[in-house]
Amino acid sequence: MVESNNTALQIREAQLVEDREPDLLGEIRSKRARIAVLGMGHVGLPTALSLCELGWHVLGADGGPPLVQQLWAGQVPFYEPGIEDLLRRHLHKNFQPIEDLEAAIRAATVVFICVGTPQGENGQADLSQVESVAGTIAQHLNGYQLIVEKSTVPARLRPIG
Ligand SMILES: NC(=O)c1ccc[n+]([C@@H]2O[C@H](COP(=O)([O-])OP(=O)(O)OC[C@H]3O[C@@H](n4cnc5c(N)ncnc54)[C@H](O)[C@@H]3O)[C@@H](O)[C@H]2O)c1
Repeated sequence: MVESNNTALQIREAQLVEDREPDLLGEIRSKRARIAVLGMGHVGLPTALSLCELGWHVLGADGGPPLVQQLWAGQVPFYEPGIEDLLRRHLHKNFQPIEDLEAAIRAATVVFICVGTPQGENGQADLSQVESVAGTIAQHLNGYQLIVEKSTVPARLRPIG
């Protein structure tokens, strides 16, 4: 019963978004929407290239310029089976590595956060990279955009209002 109520609620919410943002949903359904993936590490790069393989246009942004330059040279600084083949297939076509995080956020309709959350000295996740990109996204939002949080962060609840 709870499950069917939740499903009905999700359908109603989806309908509300569709009524308000038909252009956004149309762009996403037709894959005209450009995606920005923020963080080109072990999670972000495979995510970006897999999305390219599915037919999306992806900007791969990273704060470390040597990494972006390496990607433009067709090199991946870590091991992941098949990743260099995927990079070669999509570079200069629907995958564009980019150093300018702000430009990537402004140009995208969907923004994936894939920056690191390393364990700090006290054993807790260091969320500073996520907080930094969240602040940059907030400053450079360009209309109605979909933000996808893929970095691993602890769940938190906060009252609304
Ligand atoms: N690696 C895994 O197998 C794995 C598995 C599950 C979950 N995760 C989670 O996924 C997230 C990403 O992990 P990862 O292994 O890809 O990390 P990573 O350290 O390999 O990559 C993070 C990338 O983010 C970039 N970055 C940091 N701050 C930035 C900023 N302000 N702007 C742009 N780029 C920035 C770094 O330069 C780096 O290239 C983490 O939360 C991690 O816990 C990782």
